[in-house]
Amino acid sequence: MKPLLVLFSYHHNNTEKIANVFAKVLDAEIKTPQQLDPEELQECSLVGFGSGIYGAEHHKLLLDLADNLPQVTDRKAFIFSTSTNLEPLSKTHSPLREKLRSKGYMIVDEFTCAGLNTNSFLRFFGGINKGRPNAEDLKHAEEFAQNLKQNLQ
Ligand SMILES: Cc1cc2nc3c(=O)[nH]c(=O)nc-3n(C[C@H](O)[C@H](O)[C@H](O)COP(=O)(O)O)c2cc1C
Repeated sequence: MKPLLVLFSYHHNNTEKIANVFAKVLDAEIKTPQQLDPEELQECSLVGFGSGIYGAEHHKLLLDLADNLPQVTDRKAFIFSTSTNLEPLSKTHSPLREKLRSKGYMIVDEFTCAGLNTNSFLRFFGGINKGRPNAEDLKHAEEFAQNLKQNLQ
């Protein structure tokens, strides 16, 4: 079955911009955690899980989904995010990474880039990371997906 991207992106659709690039390169379908029937992941040879980072981790909907996934064998996954980059990827991706690993997923790669953040008082200054993801971020996303595609062939 085609690769699948499980995406939750709501603040400025920053992560959706990245997911759209991945979907094009990988010829993948995009679904939200609410749209997804966890059983359909059994059929996917590659699944990407991504959202913005909120409170130093992926969105709760994605983390809850990971908790409810069926156990798999020999399935590959990658993790992606956009954030203010307040914390390193090794930390912010860790809760989702650990949950997916415990379900039997092999994490083959991870991607993150900056995304506009106008949360709380930041909106009074026009936010942090204005214009991100930008053209260069999208180019990095495309390279990341091309690399994934090549390594998985
Ligand atoms: C409620 C909220 C909490 C956030 N917490 C963090 C955080 O802990 N660390 C960080 O680097 N960015 C944080 N951000 C910034 C978002 O990760 C960033 O804006 C991201 O690009 C949003 O993705 P989205 O537009 O796909 O929803 C937060 C944003 C919001 C709205």
